[in-house]
Amino acid sequence: MNETVNQIDNENIPKHIAIIMDGNGRWAQKRNLPRTAGHRAGMEALHRIVEAASDLGVKYLTVYAFSTENWKRSDKEVNFLMDLAVEYFFKELKELDEKNVKVQLIGKREYLPLKVQIAALEMEEQTQDNTGLVLSVALNYGGRDEIVETLKEILNDEVPYDQITEELISSYLYTGDLPDPDLLIRTGGEKRLSNFLLWQLSYAEFIFIDTFWPDCDKDFLINMIKEYQNRNRRYGDIDEN
Ligand code: FPP
Repeated sequence: MNETVNQIDNENIPKHIAIIMDGNGRWAQKRNLPRTAGHRAGMEALHRIVEAASDLGVKYLTVYAFSTENWKRSDKEVNFLMDLAVEYFFKELKELDEKNVKVQLIGKREYLPLKVQIAALEMEEQTQDNTGLVLSVALNYGGRDEIVETLKEILNDEVPYDQITEELISSYLYTGDLPDPDLLIRTGGEKRLSNFLLWQLSYAEFIFIDTFWPDCDKDFLINMIKEYQNRNRRYGDIDEN
């Protein structure tokens, strides 16, 4: 085991890490490459981070791959990202399955191209019984949209007024089976949530960091976990020490 891993407190690994994978375009621009090359490098970074999270004992990893707002980008870039998602699901299937990773898509899937829906479904079906890391890939995901859909479903199910609780609402979200994230990381230097997991991030620790997503690797994740372990989570309570 290398020195960096040794400095992690294995008793305090964040159970659920959420990541806004930002900075692909600027990573490419810095190298005089097209934005699409940045997204491809971003897919390789995702491979490294999923592997690292699984090795380090993180239980849930949720990544923002395409937002409900990302449709505003050029057709070329949108099409490239959709093709990349298909490629990711097919290319990674064997390895993720062997690593006991369970993969699920979160977001409004019915508006995604059929090829993406099919690739995601195949990944989900093949990995559904795996018991290791749960990887949730947010595609055509928006936090406000998720809350609107949740309200519609609760009304549709005619849930009685006095049964509407925070837990009930949580269970109707796309992330219904997951605990709330303990740690949110946004790479690429921007300090905003961009409509990601609005309900679920209420008590998460936030790390905003300048590193571009394609530069992220296992050492990066270890450093993020160390930073998390230096935080003092109080959930609205006071510090008794
Ligand atoms: C934001 O960077 C990134 C995205 C909108 C796409 C994220 C996609 C990947 C990491 C590729 C792999 C994943 C799948 C499953 C498709 P940006 O383009 O906004 O970067 P910029 O802010 O530097 O322009």
